[in-house]
Amino acid sequence: MTDRSCLAVILAAGLGTRMKSALPKVMHPIGGRPMLAHVLETAARAGCDRIAAVIGPDMTAVETLVAGATSSAECFIQCERKGTAHAVLAARPALKRPVDDVIVLYGDTPLITPEAIGLVRRALGDGADVAVLGFEATDPTGYGRLLVEGGRLVAIREDKDASEAERSVTFCNSGIIGFRGALLPELLDAIGSNNAKGEFYLTDAVEIASRRGLTVVAQTGPAEDVLGVNNRVQLSECEAIFQDRMRRSAMLSGVTLIAPETVFFSHDTKLEADVVVEPNVVFGPGVTVSAGTVVHAFSHLEGAFVDEGANVGPYARLRPGAELGKGSKVGNFVEIKKATVEAGAKVNHLSYIGDARVGAKANIGAGTITCNYDGYNKFFTDIGAGAFIGSNTALVAPVAVGDGALVAAGSVIVRDVPADALAVARGQQVVKEGRAATIRAIKEKAKTSREG
Ligand code: UD1
Ligand code: MG
Repeated sequence: MTDRSCLAVILAAGLGTRMKSALPKVMHPIGGRPMLAHVLETAARAGCDRIAAVIGPDMTAVETLVAGATSSAECFIQCERKGTAHAVLAARPALKRPVDDVIVLYGDTPLITPEAIGLVRRALGDGADVAVLGFEATDPTGYGRLLVEGGRLVAIREDKDASEAERSVTFCNSGIIGFRGALLPELLDAIGSNNAKGEFYLTDAVEIASRRGLTVVAQTGPAEDVLGVNNRVQLSECEAIFQDRMRRSAMLSGVTLIAPETVFFSHDTKLEADVVVEPNVVFGPGVTVSAGTVVHAFSHLEGAFVDEGANVGPYARLRPGAELGKGSKVGNFVEIKKATVEAGAKVNHLSYIGDARVGAKANIGAGTITCNYDGYNKFFTDIGAGAFIGSNTALVAPVAVGDGALVAAGSVIVRDVPADALAVARGQQVVKEGRAATIRAIKEKAKTSREG
């Protein structure tokens, strides 16, 4: 994009009181991961080679997230919330190291794209000293207005400080502002707090820079990219846009979604071309589905890998550690957890397979359960290739069923079954000819004498 060095300062000290939550605002998830994680990743993808996140005190979870994001990410703590300029100053140690450009981003703006950040970076690359990302707001209430005169951005007026005429401006500040790195410290030092909120506004840097004759420009980006989250209604609006982007991207890369609006993705869902997803499917984090697989309606997948040409569902649940081999089948009301179902194996109906291996081409009858947990520990069940497990079998782990073995329906298997053996572990069937009719006659007679 540009070979200029770039520091992203991400402001995330807000508690988000309107979220009414014990969780810091930027930790609320979009697509299954915190909003701040989206912004951290986007900043890195936009070529910001250093990242400074400004967070509030006692936000350990946020600190951990930042530390794990990219090796270049550092955290700075803003002890008191005194405004956006004050927040940027909390990252002063990072600003002191020479850098070409500094881009300020917000941690509660999760839909920001590398392209939108690119607009600001390009303006700085083209010689601007300050570049603001603006957008056309349908309702500008609450936003800072971009005041442009003769094609130059002269000031940003916060809603609370704006005159009647300024309030009618719909060109608004997204909050994303780029600065030539060498200029930022002196601009920040010149900002006061003489305004309606008594805060140090970063936006005042625009008027100061403009008065000093520096080049200040406004770029226009899509309003959708800069939606901020202040409450859970806005959180759900951002989630909806995020889901829409994921669906479009999946379909454009060759995935069929029959009813896209009913399929929900995580930020890291990977579906190969020629996967078909039927309606009402949810992908939790960590799912990869390979080409030619059909995910039937009402299935829920999380932490699962599905190889080529498999069939999942309807109503299947794949939990973390589920691995389905090529051409395997996991059918209705089947739950797979931390288990491998090898190529061509079938678990078609009403089963729980946990902590297990189902060998290639094995067939698991309806209602089969791996009893993997004794209330204290988990144990492994190993089912060999080509084994046939009759319906309603309980496999009490740890236990192994050899290749090609046959387990009779309704068995409770507590000991290993050798390869090619038949295991029958159920009560003997007893048949008493005519006994049902006799019982009926006795009961009828007793009832008639009671009532008579
Ligand atoms: C800000 C902008 C406004 C813009 C709007 C876009 C200023 C003065 N105003 O207003 O022009 O239209 O965003 O959404 O910058 N933060 C801190 N520490 C602080 C204050 C804020 O970290 O002391 C963080 C918040 O967590 C948030 C961001 O900075 O992520 C913006 O702060 P917020 O109070 O939401 O500013 P707005 O009033 O929305
Ligand atoms: Mg805000």
